[in-house]
Amino acid sequence: MRASDLEQFFVAGLLHDIGKMILLRSAAEAFQATLDVAAQEQVLFLDAESVVTGINHAAIGAMLAEKWGFPPSLAEAVSLHHRPDQAKTHPMLAAAVHVADLMSRALEIGSGGDALIPALNPVAQRALALDAAKVKDIMAEVEQEYPDVEANLTGGASQRAAA
Ligand SMILES: [Fe+2]
Repeated sequence: MRASDLEQFFVAGLLHDIGKMILLRSAAEAFQATLDVAAQEQVLFLDAESVVTGINHAAIGAMLAEKWGFPPSLAEAVSLHHRPDQAKTHPMLAAAVHVADLMSRALEIGSGGDALIPALNPVAQRALALDAAKVKDIMAEVEQEYPDVEANLTGGASQRAAA
């Protein structure tokens, strides 16, 4: 993307699901119930948590972002990473986090708390000028580079490389 604010993209990627951490830490039983509903009903964690708790991690993340005084663009990316078409402050950031989230899940990097991959938002896809070939190329690049990135972040050997 040749973005001038790459650090913001990195931080947004790290923090986008922080609402899940809040839910896990403050309402562990509800978090587990959400995992159970997602597995039993074969629905997205996002949809299961709305059923179980009446709120979702994006909304929880938005509240935390406001409380902690995140910059507006970062707060928006956390809040709207599942609805990037509604982003107004920094649509490219929300779109990039959305697409990176889906790609990570497709590559089985981490876990979203369910066995599904959310649908790619067409507005985000257009905002990033992504076609199928470009998505495939990016995913291949991520898959190749991920072991080194993971090792750098964890300070050790990659779990995937060792597997
Ligand atoms: Fe999420």
